[in-house]
Amino acid sequence: MAGTTQSTAAAAAATATPTGTRKRIFSGIQPSGHLTLGNYLGAMRRWVEEDQHRADALFCVVDMHALTVEHDPARVRRLTRQTATLLLAAGLDPRRCAVFVQSHVAEHARLSYLMECTASDGEMRRMIQYKEKVAREEARGRSVRLSLLTYPALMAADILAYGTDEVPVGDDQAQHMELTRDLAVRFNQRYGPVFTVPRAVHPQVAARVMDLRDPTSKMGKSNDDTGGIVYLLDEADVIRKKVMRAVTDSGGTGEVGYDREAQPGVANLLDVLAACTGGRPQVLAEEYTSYGALKKDTAEAVVEMLRPLRERHAELCADPAYVDEVLRAGAERARGLARPRVDAAYAAVGLMPPV
Ligand code: TYM
Repeated sequence: MAGTTQSTAAAAAATATPTGTRKRIFSGIQPSGHLTLGNYLGAMRRWVEEDQHRADALFCVVDMHALTVEHDPARVRRLTRQTATLLLAAGLDPRRCAVFVQSHVAEHARLSYLMECTASDGEMRRMIQYKEKVAREEARGRSVRLSLLTYPALMAADILAYGTDEVPVGDDQAQHMELTRDLAVRFNQRYGPVFTVPRAVHPQVAARVMDLRDPTSKMGKSNDDTGGIVYLLDEADVIRKKVMRAVTDSGGTGEVGYDREAQPGVANLLDVLAACTGGRPQVLAEEYTSYGALKKDTAEAVVEMLRPLRERHAELCADPAYVDEVLRAGAERARGLARPRVDAAYAAVGLMPPV
């Protein structure tokens, strides 16, 4: 298998050139933990089902972002490979899009510095995710890394290096995306038109999947309590257990209704079920009279949706050379796209070109 899939990947990379008129899409995912149902429904699924077919798309495992908090180097390395493998297992096709690792393309770090020179200290400190992560690091008795503050500059660089038109992300990235747009506009005003101003695209349903045990907070890969997080590689029975134990009724009405304020746990389950089955949460709410039935159907829908992904992941794990080749070819293509724009940005700010 390794031999044939490897040459397919190389051929794929050679043909994955843009037509020139298609939209450019870029998005990224951090290898800071095991991927979750939130990552899948909020971002990955759309990349697979829509974005790679309609645009010139690049998807990146943003490993440098995983260094902004205390980390175990071996784990980050392992999760980087696992994340890339899961992206392919979910259905990203290297004949249609580039899949690569951020640190393999030096332009991200090069441009990040110029973004730091464009952003203000104040706007970085206003980022909600920065404040939340500072609180979490401090609660764990850890010092806060400077890169946690400057993280959105690197994210802006990730996006702007590619002349990106659209960035498909979950709701939690909205503020970072606004900042990216501001930085692009400011840079262009100061130094000339180097960057495309990108826009965020969010899914209509499940743009923010909540933790099953604490439906007022986002299902996040690095949450401490993992009981409310469905991981993409969880066994079917583990998924069933987690969904059946989901918090549903803090108000005590006992009725199934779609009300994010009054019944956040039930609304979250309805969102997940709707996202898995293609229905609408408000309509689905009317079909259920008990939490138990809603949980059971949601659990089964999640298990069935993730089954092919887990099976494909197992196959790909047996062929690491194929994954390597996809990442090598993806990085090569990304480098070729990013370098001219980052060079132009360096020249625009007044840095002398190499002699
Ligand atoms: P990350 O790694 O936290 O998440 C990857 C993608 O998954 C979405 N997501 C969710 N969507 C719905 N519900 C959830 N519970 C949920 N959890 C995560 C995220 O919105 C995201 O789309 N800063 C980014 C990574 C990044 C990036 C980029 C993204 C770095 N550079 C450039 C786009 C473009 C992050 O931490 O995503």
